[in-house]
Amino acid sequence: MGTPIAMLFSRCLPFGIQALQTCRMAYYAVSSGRRAGVYETWAQCEEQVKGFKNAKYKKFKTRQEAELFVNPTKSYAPHELAVPLGAKQAQPASWKTKVEKIEKPKYTEAWPDEDHDLAEDELNAAMNEVEGDPRPSGSDTLLQATYRKRRANEDEDRKSKIPRHACQVSEAAGMKHVGAFQFEIDAEGYVIVYTDGSCINNGRPGACAGYGVYFGPNHKLNAAKPVQGRVTNNVGEIQAAIHAIKTALDLGIEKLAISTDSQFLINSITLWVAGWKRRDWKLKNNQPVKNVVDFKELDALLQNKSLKVKWNYVEAHKGIQGNEMADKLAREGSALYKQLKS
Ligand SMILES: *[C@@H]1O[C@H](CO)[C@@H](O)[C@H](O)[C@H]1NC(C)=O
Repeated sequence: MGTPIAMLFSRCLPFGIQALQTCRMAYYAVSSGRRAGVYETWAQCEEQVKGFKNAKYKKFKTRQEAELFVNPTKSYAPHELAVPLGAKQAQPASWKTKVEKIEKPKYTEAWPDEDHDLAEDELNAAMNEVEGDPRPSGSDTLLQATYRKRRANEDEDRKSKIPRHACQVSEAAGMKHVGAFQFEIDAEGYVIVYTDGSCINNGRPGACAGYGVYFGPNHKLNAAKPVQGRVTNNVGEIQAAIHAIKTALDLGIEKLAISTDSQFLINSITLWVAGWKRRDWKLKNNQPVKNVVDFKELDALLQNKSLKVKWNYVEAHKGIQGNEMADKLAREGSALYKQLKS
């Protein structure tokens, strides 16, 4: 902020000697990430959002739109107005009209085509376009579906169609002994467990991923493990659930309430997996399901009639103790992954 927009425009728009087509300037707005702000390269933006849960970011052609995305309530002083060279200073009144017009900016370009794990919200939305929307989805790939989602006006509409689970924190209603162990149970007698995945440098070379399983304070069955196979946050989420379920089956636990902050995991296993199986592990658009090895294992475990599993969504980074502890264990798992690989 603080850079006169007129100056930026002179770099980008044909007010000076530069022609429009030579300008490839882009502004990446990060409203939710490690550090919110406007970045001028995808690499800088990526550092703020990659692996960051619920990251929110968009690409714009002008800094002005990008800054509005980061801080929609900011009002600009008239002197920050873009004024074509030689033109008269615009009036504050016309500025105001302009601000109102771009309050809901149009997304003019597709997001960079990079091979990275999409942030949780994006992945969930993109998957829903393919799997959850009753309209035929044609031959869209997951990424094309994401691009479409980004289009102005449709954005909110689409978001409202994503199956989202309300945050539900399991209240411990009592304790239950199973074998040599003691577990907290909820009012319906389900053993309470929190699971989480973690990935450092998600989607980049040198990524390290792990998962955490948390039954309670200092519980002997709490686990912090490196992932196996693909090294992404989502793999961590799935393998954490697998670990929790295996533990429960081994011990003879009959009811398990898994609390996770991954809407994607819950939607995958409760909504979409049935269709994937019918189509031989293909999406509706015939693309292969990612992380199929892990999803197959999770699904097979869930067929075991001796265990009933209930899924709870909990919001991440909200101080929900079980989730915070599972997150900590997951990060320990990522650190272990790093140790093993180096
Ligand atoms: C269900 O889990 C139990 C405990 O691990 C195991 O002994 C049994 O073989 C499993 N059943 C099936 C059908 O996989």
